[in-house]
Amino acid sequence: MSLTLRVGVVGAGRVGAVLAAGLQAAGHTVVAAAGESDASRRRAADLLPGVPLRKPSDVARESELLLLTVPDDMLPNVVKVLADSGALHAGQYVAHTSGRHGLAVLAPAAAVGARVIALHPAMTFTGTAVDLERLHGCVFGLTAGPAEREVAEALVADLGGRPTWVPEEMRTLYHAGLAHGANHLVTLVSEAMGLLAAAGVDDPAGTLRPLLDAALDNALDHGDAALTGPIVRGDVQTVAAHLADIAAKAPDTVPSYVALAWATLDRAVTDGRLLPIRAQSIATVLNAYGERRFVHHPRVESA
Ligand SMILES: NC(=O)c1ccc[n+]([C@@H]2O[C@H](COP(=O)([O-])OP(=O)(O)OC[C@H]3O[C@@H](n4cnc5c(N)ncnc54)[C@H](OP(=O)(O)O)[C@@H]3O)[C@@H](O)[C@H]2O)c1
Repeated sequence: MSLTLRVGVVGAGRVGAVLAAGLQAAGHTVVAAAGESDASRRRAADLLPGVPLRKPSDVARESELLLLTVPDDMLPNVVKVLADSGALHAGQYVAHTSGRHGLAVLAPAAAVGARVIALHPAMTFTGTAVDLERLHGCVFGLTAGPAEREVAEALVADLGGRPTWVPEEMRTLYHAGLAHGANHLVTLVSEAMGLLAAAGVDDPAGTLRPLLDAALDNALDHGDAALTGPIVRGDVQTVAAHLADIAAKAPDTVPSYVALAWATLDRAVTDGRLLPIRAQSIATVLNAYGERRFVHHPRVESA
């Protein structure tokens, strides 16, 4: 499907400015953007040169495709205000880029006859031209009615992405999966670098990079079967030694180490790679750190 649309973006944040620039590069015309902060103005100047900045209702009136790229918690109010003010019109495409929200949040737009789409790029954005390259191959979590599916997929293709369809009632879980993987990975890696720095390692990032690259590839390819290390081996003394040293030298990292050790333990028992008797010994060590007072998995409990 080939279509060219007059695109408006509210607002010119990290995602909005980049997606609008991507659509412009694909032949659409970005007619206006909204954004008041210095950061949004700078992004618009860099990524959308010559595109006028207008107030949100004017952007909405001028566009055939309105991108609503505001923070998740602002979205319901922005949609309602635009619909109530008469700035949205029948036949206009209105898309948001929130992972968590589906079509329900766009109900006020649908009520005036707009054609609504949830179009979430499963990517982390810097709000710079670097992101444009990353859109190629990026997966977009889409939710739309049957009449909008073709257009939604065409927009994703214009951006160089790939669609995955997410049912309305699964949006939050879909987004939780992405956030748990990508956001918590950042925390985990930062903590790991902190432990190596505390151990006096010169280049924590360079030391972790080949290991983490391999672990990520293996996990994405093989899931739990990729797991190696002291927990799946049942090396209880190593786990105990880790925790004693972390508690002494990097105590802020104890809660996440313990929480992830519990999750790893459960999964190693569930997939049959760790005998319940060995798991029980590790559970006893973890319990000593006060994160959980019971042994969670029935197979561990029966040991
Ligand atoms: N960041 C990511 O990596 C990422 C990835 C995928 C999806 N998303 C989703 O994309 C959406 C936008 O996220 P973002 O990271 O691009 O946010 P952001 O960088 O904080 O930008 C938000 C934009 O919305 C504007 N805005 C804020 N409140 C507004 C309001 N009440 N009315 C009109 N405009 C308003 C801001 O304008 P001012 O600057 O003038 O305040 C700014 O231009 C969210 O739904 C987010 O979940 C983000």
